[in-house]
Amino acid sequence: MSSPLVLRTVAELRRTVAGWRAAGERVALVPTMGALHPGHVSLAGIGRRTCTRIVVSIFVNPTQFAPNEDFSAYPRTFEADLAALEAERIDAVFAPGVPDMYPDGFCTTVSLAGPAAAGLEDRFRPTHFAGVATVVSKLLIRCLPDVAVFGEKDWQQLAVIRRAARDLDIPVDILGGPTIRESDGLAMSSRNVYLTPEERAAAPLLHRVMTRCAERIRAGEPASTAMAEGRAAIEAGGFALDYLETRDPDSLAPVADDASGPLRMLVAARIGRTRLIDNIAVRPVAQH
Ligand code: PAF
Repeated sequence: MSSPLVLRTVAELRRTVAGWRAAGERVALVPTMGALHPGHVSLAGIGRRTCTRIVVSIFVNPTQFAPNEDFSAYPRTFEADLAALEAERIDAVFAPGVPDMYPDGFCTTVSLAGPAAAGLEDRFRPTHFAGVATVVSKLLIRCLPDVAVFGEKDWQQLAVIRRAARDLDIPVDILGGPTIRESDGLAMSSRNVYLTPEERAAAPLLHRVMTRCAERIRAGEPASTAMAEGRAAIEAGGFALDYLETRDPDSLAPVADDASGPLRMLVAARIGRTRLIDNIAVRPVAQH
């Protein structure tokens, strides 16, 4: 087992990646904000299917947090993250500082529409996706990987990033990695550490309700009826619900009850001081 290289600046990252490319290797980037859990590790595994070198970036990106959000409280566990990545044979960790990513005078932001304005996360975090798309564009342009892998747990984020990479002609394959769940169904998330024991016990309700609603829709019940009951069940379980919706998986546009195409269910709800998001396929996109 050897420790991953720790790269702090764009110059170090570019030099390292250029050396690999000159040797004919393929490079995958897994962008993260650290506080790594098995979900992140699984994304590196997806990169490894087609690439020989894996870079994991760890950067808690200030521009995607609103002033009232948890930027300063966000868990930072760099030493434990490095140890986890060493066990996974990761080649390099790119961990820039804020001044390296956003030097004095930085004033450029990616402006988004389409899936970024679907009325889901954007309704509750109006500045979030501009921060995500800006930092992800910077990370992709800095690293120029062949592949970049993002978790499907942040489904709207994945749709936004796919669209932005396509629109900005960033030459990278964006891949999604399936959500990794605890044995009781709770989606793994760095923010789960905020949950008190009581909240942690209640949290799997979101996945249970979504699973039940999806079964009912697949059995022929109108999505609007199943969703209304799902919303009530989540609120009865002690959550403050932001949304529970079914949408087109790519555009995230609303879908009529009588439509038969692919359908994704997405939820966001708050319990105590923690905001949880999750999503599942109701009717998956056809595989080619
Ligand atoms: O999903 C995350 O951890 C972050 O939003 C990302 C994609 C690393 C951008 O900061």
